[in-house]
Amino acid sequence: MKLWGGRFEKTTDAMVEDFHSSIRFDQRLYKQDILGSIAHARMLGSVGVISEEEANHLMAGLTEILDDIQAGKVEFEIGAEDIHMNVEKLLTERIGPVGKKLHTGRSRNDQVALDLRLYLREEIDHTKNLVEQLLQTLLQLAEEHLETWMPGYTHLQKAQPITLAHHLMAYVQMFLRDLGRLKDTRKRLNSSPLGSGAMAGTTFPLDREKVAAELGFDGVTLNSLDGVSDRDFALEFLAAASILMMHLSRMCEELVLWSSGEFRFISMDDGYSTGSSIMPQKKNPDVAELVRGKTGRVYGDLVALLTVMKGLPLAYNKDMQEDKEQVFDAVDTIQKCLLVVEPMLRTMQVHRDTMAWGAKGGFTNATDLADYLAKKGVPFREAHELVGRIVLHCSKQGIGLEELSLSDYQELSPIFEDDLFEAIGIEHCVRARKIAGGPSPETVAEGIRVSREVLNDL
Ligand code: ARG
Repeated sequence: MKLWGGRFEKTTDAMVEDFHSSIRFDQRLYKQDILGSIAHARMLGSVGVISEEEANHLMAGLTEILDDIQAGKVEFEIGAEDIHMNVEKLLTERIGPVGKKLHTGRSRNDQVALDLRLYLREEIDHTKNLVEQLLQTLLQLAEEHLETWMPGYTHLQKAQPITLAHHLMAYVQMFLRDLGRLKDTRKRLNSSPLGSGAMAGTTFPLDREKVAAELGFDGVTLNSLDGVSDRDFALEFLAAASILMMHLSRMCEELVLWSSGEFRFISMDDGYSTGSSIMPQKKNPDVAELVRGKTGRVYGDLVALLTVMKGLPLAYNKDMQEDKEQVFDAVDTIQKCLLVVEPMLRTMQVHRDTMAWGAKGGFTNATDLADYLAKKGVPFREAHELVGRIVLHCSKQGIGLEELSLSDYQELSPIFEDDLFEAIGIEHCVRARKIAGGPSPETVAEGIRVSREVLNDL
């Protein structure tokens, strides 16, 4: 017999039973579901909708079910549809008819909205911790590499010299913003929908605030239709997760490039690399590649839920049952990726010499030569033109700007003096960029200090 079986004359088709049942995946919400029910039962007792004694029975039964599920002693039933009805059915089987009072003034519509909010709130906190650990590792690495010179790129062509610390600190800024987005999402989701009922609230004098407080919410949702049909909080999480994955993916893409024989900037630790079944020499950066690949899943989860929601009339529609697998998949994926990326970064070997050597080639000091002229009064556009011609000349000779003689320079422009060589020395090019946000070791050290503060406040 179904919990909603009264108005039906025939049983559900077996295929439909299987098709619409969500217990296979929403059993993951058992803890949130039961804690929500305990708070609801306590409140029903305290406002006198049921007796205190009945409330105590319900709460004791629910607590026992929670323990048994945690101990792996409960088998869920497909026929009982979802976690909400499985728990209610178990409760009535165990404590008798009083179990049937639990659902007074409540609907599965506000119940499921509650469960998912509670679940995501916890997972957001866990995800935030993982991002924080990643940030600590990046900050630590940045501190170690304040003077590890490397080429910076635009269009993947060498651009200007920077340091590894500066490069890593770019990711620190991204992940700090990701943390901020997770924090915002958590703040907005933290209102209790219980009391919205199916969609029009209830005539029972429920104490919504009491339930909300017991469950750690900041308050209650303000419209019963919205309370049951809002999935913004899940979408916000998926959007924040997608952006975070995009950042992880860009970083991993660079690690893949850097560990190639062509770059040789880093070597991955053996523990975070894998081999080939045919090519004995291979050591592949699979972990970084997989993180890059898994980013697609999380985008898919976001787009899937946006698409589910876009055409739904108010209030609850069964389509919304499709929210959970997307959210679970995104949570699992993002947490696994964050977990594995942190030690992968921490254990990788940085080849400082190759990086420093790379910082030198490719005329990465050409801007500094133009700036040198501009500082001596040559309009920057003219300086750019002249240096462009010098680069062309040097590249035909196969030499760097620092290898051209002073007399050659002076033939091109009398403004050149022998201090030009200091101005275009790679280290100098980096050290002189003391501008806020720039790559000089002291600026980056200050950036690390400020970022640590931001992290502590988040
Ligand atoms: N399993 C459902 C879900 O995940 C719970 C809500 C069902 N409500 C209903 N009226 N059928 O969305």
